[in-house]
Amino acid sequence: MQGLRLVNGNQPMQNFPIGIAKFIIENSLQYKLNNQEEFNIIDPCLGWGGRTVGTLALSSTKRFENKIINFYGTDVHEAIYDRYGMLVEFWNNYICPLPNFHFFKPLEPTPYEDILQDKLFKDKAGTFDLALTSPPYFAIEQYSEDQNQSFKKFNTYNSWKEGFLKPLIFNTYILLKSGGEFYLNISDVKSNVSNSVLNELPLINDSIILAKQIGFRFDGKYFMEMPTHANFSIDISKNKKVRLRDEQRHKYEPILVFVK
Ligand SMILES: C[S@@+](CC[C@H](N)C(=O)[O-])C[C@H]1O[C@@H](n2cnc3c(N)ncnc32)[C@H](O)[C@@H]1O
Repeated sequence: MQGLRLVNGNQPMQNFPIGIAKFIIENSLQYKLNNQEEFNIIDPCLGWGGRTVGTLALSSTKRFENKIINFYGTDVHEAIYDRYGMLVEFWNNYICPLPNFHFFKPLEPTPYEDILQDKLFKDKAGTFDLALTSPPYFAIEQYSEDQNQSFKKFNTYNSWKEGFLKPLIFNTYILLKSGGEFYLNISDVKSNVSNSVLNELPLINDSIILAKQIGFRFDGKYFMEMPTHANFSIDISKNKKVRLRDEQRHKYEPILVFVK
C-alpha cells in the first residue's frame, strides 16, 4: 500500500475511499456493458488519487477487462501532479498490468474552471459517461500554496461559488454525454474566513441550485461513510455529519447525483 501513497509516502488515498469510488463507477456503467466497448470517465479534482485507484481496480475486474476505460482528470497541486502517472505505473508494474486503462491529464496543472481551453478535453465534449469528484470545500482545507488553488483565486465564498463551483458544474455538464452522471462529493462547512458573514456555508444547496440552473436533473444523494481514526469521539448530537452504525460513530459526507 506504501507505493500507492501520493505525498512523501504519507498521504493515504483513503481520503475518498477507493472501494466507494469503484462501487459508484461500476454501478453506473454496468447497464451499458452489453452495448458499449469504451467508457470515458472524468475526475475534475484528482486530489489524493482515490478515484483514480478505484477506477484502476474496476478496470482489473473480469467484468471490465475487455472494455477500454479512458480516465481523464486534472488538479492544481504542483507537488503531486506528476504522481498520478506514477500511480498508474505502479499499478501496472506491481499489481496488475492493464492494457485497457488509459490515463489523461493536461501537460501542466490546469484549474478545472479553465479545462475547456485545453484541446485534449475540449475535443471530448459530450463524450463522458461519468464524472466523479471531491472538490475543495471552499477554504476549509488548504492543500497547497499554488496560485490556482480555488481558495487562493477566489477568497470570498460568493466569488468562489461564481468563479469555481459554477464552472466546475458547467464544464462537467458540457463534457458529459446526454444521460451521463455526475457524482459530486460535497459538504456544508463552517466558514473559516474571517470576513465571511455566513457561519455555515451552504455548499450542498448551492451546488444543487447551480446544477439545476445549468440543466442537470438532481437524482438524489448517497451518504458516504468516511474513514475515521480509532479514537474518533465527536458528540453525535452536536455534529450532523456523524451517525451511529453498529454502535460505533461514523462520519458521513454526501455525494450528490446529477444526470445530464
Ligand atoms: C483533496 S480534494 C478535497 C477533499 C475534500 N473535499 C475536502 O475538502 O476535505 C481537493 C483537490 O482539489 C484540488 N484543487 C484545488 N483547486 C482546484 C482547481 N481550481 N481545479 C482543480 N483542482 C483543484 C486540490 O489541489 C485538491 O487536490
